[in-house]
Amino acid sequence: MKHPLVLVPGLLCDAALWGPQVEALADVADFWVPELRTQRSMREMGQTVLDEAPFSAFALAGLSMGGYVAMEVMRRAPERVTRLALLDTRATPDTEEESDRRRELIRLARAERGFTPVTNRMLPLLVHPSRVKDTSLVKIIRGMAEHTGIEGFVRQQTAIIGRPDSRPGLSAIKAPTLVLCGREDAITPLARHEEMAALIPASRLEIVEACGHLSTLERPGEVNRALRSWLGWNP
Ligand code: MLT
Repeated sequence: MKHPLVLVPGLLCDAALWGPQVEALADVADFWVPELRTQRSMREMGQTVLDEAPFSAFALAGLSMGGYVAMEVMRRAPERVTRLALLDTRATPDTEEESDRRRELIRLARAERGFTPVTNRMLPLLVHPSRVKDTSLVKIIRGMAEHTGIEGFVRQQTAIIGRPDSRPGLSAIKAPTLVLCGREDAITPLARHEEMAALIPASRLEIVEACGHLSTLERPGEVNRALRSWLGWNP
C-alpha cells in the first residue's frame, strides 16, 4: 500500500518545490500539496491542511514555511500524522530584525509591483552559491514566486512574522521524524536543525552536502533517498 503523503511548500513556493519528489516517489506515495496563498496566520494554514487533506492520516513533510505549518499541524492534530519530515526549517520564532527584513521585502514587492527585485535579493540566500546562476533552477524559483503573487507573498510573510515558538511542543512529538537540511542553508542554518533533532525524541538528522535552503530542488537525489528511507522507517 502507498503512503498518503502531504507535502507543504515554503514561502513563495508551490507544488513545483516538490516536483522531483512527486516524480521519484510515485511508486511508494500518494501526494497532496496544499495551496497556501490566502491564509494570514499559521493557525489558518495548519487548519487548511487538516480540513483539505484528502487523507485521514498521513505522512507530513514541510520545507521552511512548510515546516512551520507542519509544526502547527502537530500542535493541533498530532493523531493524524503518522510520520513527520522537517526540511530546511526551524522551530524558533522571528527576531525583531528578521521581521523588519520581511516588512522591507513586502514594501519592495508592492513598490515594484513584481518579484524580480525580491527574488534577486533573496536568491543568494535561497540556494547554494554555486547554483545562483543555474538558469533552470532559477526559472522554477521565479515561476513559483509569480504564481504566489504579491498579495499571497504579503499574507505568507504576515503569517511567518506571527508564528509562535514551536520549541516547547517538540518533545511531545511521537511520530518518527526526519530533520533534514542543506549544509549551507543560509536562511535556516544547521544549528536550528540540530536543535529540533535534539528536542524531538524519535528523530534523525540528515545533512545534504553542497546544498542551500531549497534542498528538494537543489539536491533531489539525496532528498528523495532520505524521504524514501523515512517512509520505510518502522514507527
Ligand atoms: C521559506 O523558504 O519558507 C522562508 O525562507 C521561510 C522564512 O523566511 O522564514
